[in-house]
Amino acid sequence: MMKGIILAGGAGTRLHPLTKITSKQLLPVYDRPMIYYPLQTLLDAGIREILIIVAPDRAGDFLRLLGSGKEFGAKFTYEIQDRPEGLAQAFLIGKTFIGDDNVTMILGDNIFLGNETFLLNAITTFAGGARVFAKEVPDPERFGVVEFDAHMRVVSIEEKPRVPKSRYAVTGLYVYDNTVVERAAALKPSARGELEITDLNNAYLRDHQLEVCLYDGFWLDTGTFDTLLDAGITVREFRRAQTRS
Ligand code: DAU
Repeated sequence: MMKGIILAGGAGTRLHPLTKITSKQLLPVYDRPMIYYPLQTLLDAGIREILIIVAPDRAGDFLRLLGSGKEFGAKFTYEIQDRPEGLAQAFLIGKTFIGDDNVTMILGDNIFLGNETFLLNAITTFAGGARVFAKEVPDPERFGVVEFDAHMRVVSIEEKPRVPKSRYAVTGLYVYDNTVVERAAALKPSARGELEITDLNNAYLRDHQLEVCLYDGFWLDTGTFDTLLDAGITVREFRRAQTRS
């Protein structure tokens, strides 16, 4: 079975004062709270058991908004991440929830639009190892960046490299087999003191267990004021185009 995790912790300090009273992942993106979009991505892929990881002082806001999951035809579980100690920590916090299953994690501030079928297939056909999604972007240095060889085989992933080796950013959607729990437990904190998802992906890569799929729908990361505003405008355009067609 495939379970889901939405990672929605973090301090959101880059978006102060907007995030002084609530989480970044609850801010509006056009007509919905941000977290509705990654949640919909998991629901579209048929995932019904979802763990939502939140910061301690924001848990009540998430519970009030999302509740048990019944309204969404799903079952939600909540865990607290005491401190934002890295994306890969989600698999330590989520160990009991994951149990013996595979798991898809999506970041609570990542929005995927316009190619639901591709993601649905990528998640439902997953057979083991790790599957991540890369997207060509103008500013790869803000992300995990994929290095390819001449045959488009993946050589490495680098986290926020000063000199990116390609323009392909790793998006915040990750599909892992059950070994993710032990692989995450073996990680050491990086220089910035975090358990890095990029180190986790490279651990799969070293074992020839990492697959990088190129994603050609819209992908929006909403980490700054500009990208937050762009996300709202893009969603509005997208909705208008849908109602026209
Ligand atoms: O958006 C995709 C990128 O996400 C990837 O390309 C990078 O490889 C990956 O490291 C990550 O980079 P970010 O710079 O976007 O990570 P950030 O620290 O901003 O965290 C992403 C989201 O996860 C954010 O909404 C806050 C939340 N978070 C973050 C950390 C470090 C947590 O819930 N807990 C954490 O410990």
